[in-house]
Amino acid sequence: MAAVPKSTRVALGLTFDDRELEAAIRRGLDDVESALRTACDSNDFFVNATAHHLVDAGGKRFRPLVTLLAAHFGHPDKPEVVPAAVVCELTHLATLYHDDVMDEAAVRRGAISANSRWDNTVAILTGDFLFSRASNILADLGPFAVRLQAQTFERLVIGQIHETVGAAEDADPIAHYLDVLADKTGSLIATAAEFGAYYAGATPEIIAGLRTYGEQIGVAFQISDDILDIASDTDESGKTPGTDLREGIPTLPVLYALRSTDPSNARLRELVSRPLVDDDEHAEALRLLRASDAIAEARQTLAGYAATARASLAVMPHLPAREALETLTEIVITRTG
Ligand code: IPE
Ligand code: IPE
Ligand code: MG
Ligand code: MG
Repeated sequence: MAAVPKSTRVALGLTFDDRELEAAIRRGLDDVESALRTACDSNDFFVNATAHHLVDAGGKRFRPLVTLLAAHFGHPDKPEVVPAAVVCELTHLATLYHDDVMDEAAVRRGAISANSRWDNTVAILTGDFLFSRASNILADLGPFAVRLQAQTFERLVIGQIHETVGAAEDADPIAHYLDVLADKTGSLIATAAEFGAYYAGATPEIIAGLRTYGEQIGVAFQISDDILDIASDTDESGKTPGTDLREGIPTLPVLYALRSTDPSNARLRELVSRPLVDDDEHAEALRLLRASDAIAEARQTLAGYAATARASLAVMPHLPAREALETLTEIVITRTG
C-alpha cells in the first residue's frame, strides 16, 4: 500500500489515523472527480461551459465522501459505489444552481454564481441538465437507485418549498425549520450514506444505521452552514456572508433571536423580522447576531444533532471508517469556530 502523508486533507479537512483507509478514500474521490467531469461534458459548447462552471469551482465533495466511507462497512470496491457517489454530487450540484437563483446569491464556491455570470434561466436549465445526467447514471444502477434518488429528490424539493412558504401561523417556527433542514439537506446526505452501504453489500442493520447517521449529520451540517453565513467571511465559505439575512430567510440563529424575550435583543429582533436590503441595517444585524446568545443556542442544537449522528454509529463494527465518520461529527461542530 502506497504511503499517504498523514496531513493530507480531504473534505472538511478530515484526517485519517488509518493509512489504508485514507489511500482508498483518496482513490475513490479521484474516481468520483473524473466521473463527475465526464458527466458534465456536453457537445454543446455553451452548455459544456455552464455545466462545468460549478464543478470546476471546487466544493467539498462531502456527499461523495460519505458514500465512500459508508462503503467501507462492506466491500468498498464494488463497481456501483463510485457512480452512486457521483449521482449524489450531481444532484447536490444541480440544487446549488437552483438554490442560488432562489436565494439571489452572487457567489458560490468562491466563484461568481451561474445566475450572476449568465442569468436565472441559464442557471435553472443547467441545473436541469445536471439532473438529466444524474438520471443517466441512475438508469445503469437500476430501479433501486432510481427510486431512492426520486424519493430523496422529492424530500429535497419539499424542503425548499417549505422554507420558501414558511411556517403556518399556528406552527412552531423552530420545529418547522428543523424539518426543512432534514428535508432539504438531511435527505441527500442520508441517501449518500445508504448508497455506499447498500452497494457495498452491508447488512440491513448497518445500512439503516448509516442512513440515520447521514440524516442527522446532514441537519448538523446545514446548521453549521447557517452559522457560517453569519459568522464567516467570504474567503472561508466561498459564499457571500449574510445572504440569508439579506433575503429574509430566517435561519436557526435568527429564529432563536426572534424567540428570545431578552430586552437586550430588542433591536436585533426588530431588524431580523424582515428582509435587510439596507447595507447599514444589514451590517448592524450581522454584528448584533454575531454577539448574541442566539448563535450560542444554534451551536448547542448543532451539537445535539452531531451527537445523535455519532450515537447511530454505536451498532457499527469498530472499523477505521467508523472512526472517520465519528471525526466528521466533531468537524461539523468545530468548523463554525
Ligand atoms: C451547501 O453545501 C449547501 C448546504 C446544504 C449547506 P456544501 O457546503 O456541501 O457545498 P459545497 O459542495 O462544498 O460547495
Ligand atoms: C442549499 O441551501 C440548497 C439545498 C440544501 C437544497 P442553502 O441556501 O441553505 O445553502 P447555501 O448557504 O446557499 O449553500
Ligand atoms: Mg442558498
Ligand atoms: Mg437556499
